[in-house]
Amino acid sequence: MNIIILPSQEKVEAVAARFVADRVKAEPQLNLGCATGRTMEGIYDRLVRLAGSESLDFSGVSTFNLDEYVGVEPDSEQSYRHYMEKFLFSRVNIRPENTFIPSGTAADPEAEAAAFEREITGRGGIGLQLLGLGNNGHIGFNEPLSSFASRTRVVPLAPHTREQNAGNFGGNPDNVPTTAITMGVGTILETREALLIVTGAHKAEILARVVEGPIASRVTATALQLHPNCHVLVDEDAAAQLEMSGFIRGSAVHHPLWKNYLNG
Ligand code: GLP
Repeated sequence: MNIIILPSQEKVEAVAARFVADRVKAEPQLNLGCATGRTMEGIYDRLVRLAGSESLDFSGVSTFNLDEYVGVEPDSEQSYRHYMEKFLFSRVNIRPENTFIPSGTAADPEAEAAAFEREITGRGGIGLQLLGLGNNGHIGFNEPLSSFASRTRVVPLAPHTREQNAGNFGGNPDNVPTTAITMGVGTILETREALLIVTGAHKAEILARVVEGPIASRVTATALQLHPNCHVLVDEDAAAQLEMSGFIRGSAVHHPLWKNYLNG
């Protein structure tokens, strides 16, 4: 894992957006894996601004989202489809037919999940996958104990996750769907490059477990230690409990890719 500690959430957002913009420029047909959640909002906002100021072309880009709630209509304000339209899709020149998110209201959610997995494979796989981190260490909606070989599928949501995500459901965890469709841990591990973004003091303990703890399905994001090309962008608040922060800081300064972003 390439771990990069930056001074603030703002700096993390700026560097992440810059990184994605550079990848889109380098590969105009990029298959971009998208994440949702509060962490990603500022990143999409900055990416949209870069798209405007640098005439970034998304017309050849395809996106594949990590997850969607089962039972929520795509055009409902609570869907991740709506989130993506609001924060990214409606603000850049991406083609609607190139944006892939499982439908939460498909008649057969398992078949929908399998079709989504085939779509990823059929289009050549994901080039860059953006990831946020759940407070319980999940990636996508791969809750604790998910198999590291899992593929896109229907999963139950942990009570903790339903509490964390209640904000979009009137603040009541009971209103949060009980199941979701998520890319599997195995699907995520096959992406060519992954960028995990973690900010805030409330994620410090779980980040230390993800990065420095033993690999275990109890914390599904620890699977990323097995990813051959995974970057982890964090702010000082989230990095507060890393035991190896001195070594991590020294490594980033010399990393052939990241030293350019740190100096920029
Ligand atoms: C949800 C999503 C995850 C996301 C997580 C973090 O549970 N399914 O993909 O990473 O939230 O959210 P936040 O950035 O709001 O902390």
